[in-house]
Amino acid sequence: MKWINNSKWLGAWICIILAVAGIGLEPNAAHASATGVTQATYGVEALNGLDAANAKLSLSATASTAITNGTDWKDTAGNPIQANSGNILKVGSTYYWYGEHAENWKFEKVNVYTSTDLKNWSFRSSILTKDSAPELNSSKIERPKVIYNKATGKYVLWAHYENGTDYSLGRVAVATSDTPDGAFAYQGSFRPLNYESRDMTLFTDTDGSGYLVTASRKNGGANDTMAIFKLTDDYIGVQSFVGWIFENGYREAPAVVKKNNTYYLFTSQASGWYPNQGAYATASSMTGSWSALSPFGDPAAYGSQIHSIATITGSAGTSYIYMGDRWNPLNLSDHKFIWLPLTLNDSNKTATLNWYSSWDLDATTGNVILPSLVNHAQGKTATANSAASGSPASLANDGNAQTSWKTASASWPAWWQVDLGSTKTISEVDISWFMYKGSEAYYKYKIEYSTDGTSYSTIDRTSNTAYGFTSDKVNFQARYVRINLVTAVLFNNPNNWYTPTVHEVRLLGH
Ligand code: DGJ
Repeated sequence: MKWINNSKWLGAWICIILAVAGIGLEPNAAHASATGVTQATYGVEALNGLDAANAKLSLSATASTAITNGTDWKDTAGNPIQANSGNILKVGSTYYWYGEHAENWKFEKVNVYTSTDLKNWSFRSSILTKDSAPELNSSKIERPKVIYNKATGKYVLWAHYENGTDYSLGRVAVATSDTPDGAFAYQGSFRPLNYESRDMTLFTDTDGSGYLVTASRKNGGANDTMAIFKLTDDYIGVQSFVGWIFENGYREAPAVVKKNNTYYLFTSQASGWYPNQGAYATASSMTGSWSALSPFGDPAAYGSQIHSIATITGSAGTSYIYMGDRWNPLNLSDHKFIWLPLTLNDSNKTATLNWYSSWDLDATTGNVILPSLVNHAQGKTATANSAASGSPASLANDGNAQTSWKTASASWPAWWQVDLGSTKTISEVDISWFMYKGSEAYYKYKIEYSTDGTSYSTIDRTSNTAYGFTSDKVNFQARYVRINLVTAVLFNNPNNWYTPTVHEVRLLGH
């Protein structure tokens, strides 16, 4: 059967079948690594003694056993989850996931969903709506963040506030509640200490200090420089200006996390609703000094823009979830969630973000469980129709999404090919494409594959409209895989002036 060749579905079916049979799922070969990440191999022999066909018939259709990226996420009632650009807060043993619901470019609601396993989310309430205050009626409320103030016992929401038509106000909005699921009482909107404030986040430090980190204006350009402010003790106002950061960097989408004594500040570039290269800086204090920016993930942050990092602490340790939005620039309510395991390395203060279409996080232990897929392309012999000096074909399968293969001239189509050495079964093709800030592009391409290098089959992806990163579920056997770059479509440019460039091709399978 087709699904038996696909590890994700095999794993998911086994989880469901065992759950139906009342058997707890235990990976039969698990290697816990120093990072708390577990590679799991789900044994087919676990099916022994079960009537798989019957078990499949009686499974519950809605339970999620994994975090599956780029799909339509539904709540436990089967409704689409509307919670863009928010954050997760843990209250007791329950996780509260806050986020925005926008329609037609305007604010509708800030919703909250709850879960204990981080995979199955129940709608709890709309904690703020366009009817909560007159000025919300026709407005933009973006990037809502909810934090808890221990001293006052209040839950405090901050968000980016704009009128309903443009981004000229540059304000924050604040609301408070005695409970995590509201309703939140609207406190109004303002510019923090009269500075402009657009994309923003909140951070509560281990000493109880609260901070606002926001895209502001220092030198005349909207969002030209980020600003950090300290919040008042009750978190409902701004106490002081802490400092500027990333001067003239035009950074947006801030998200802060602290691990041990290191603060990580993640941001994106400013490119509207289009994905771009994310980057982070580190410091030993929220007051700085902050390091230079380092890139994370691939040039499109795997087709997402960061909004928060969830810290998940269980019995075995702490893991971090990168929470990103994959926006649909034409329809904000049609957006997708991209949640990925984020690795923070204490010793060299680095952050690593890899792509997993599907992965798991055990909320009880805090352990990340990664699929046991292998990238068959990495390090294998690559060729191409041409290569610019310093950009050989081998840089598209070196395991580093920051390096790239580039053709010698800007002519399309182009092709890149890898020889896997022997025939492999491939279940997923992930491609990190070249992106340039402000010239967002999607690629029309074909995946061509062959066992003998003579006769090729084709998967036509010229209908693709995903920006910067593509992940295709496939099921083929091949020794030779060729990516045919038909053309790039540049949203903000009438002509495709790109030189064919690919940062990374990953061919996943067992
Ligand atoms: C990018 C920001 O990150 C989003 O939150 C939103 O403000 C858009 N810009 C608006 O174009």
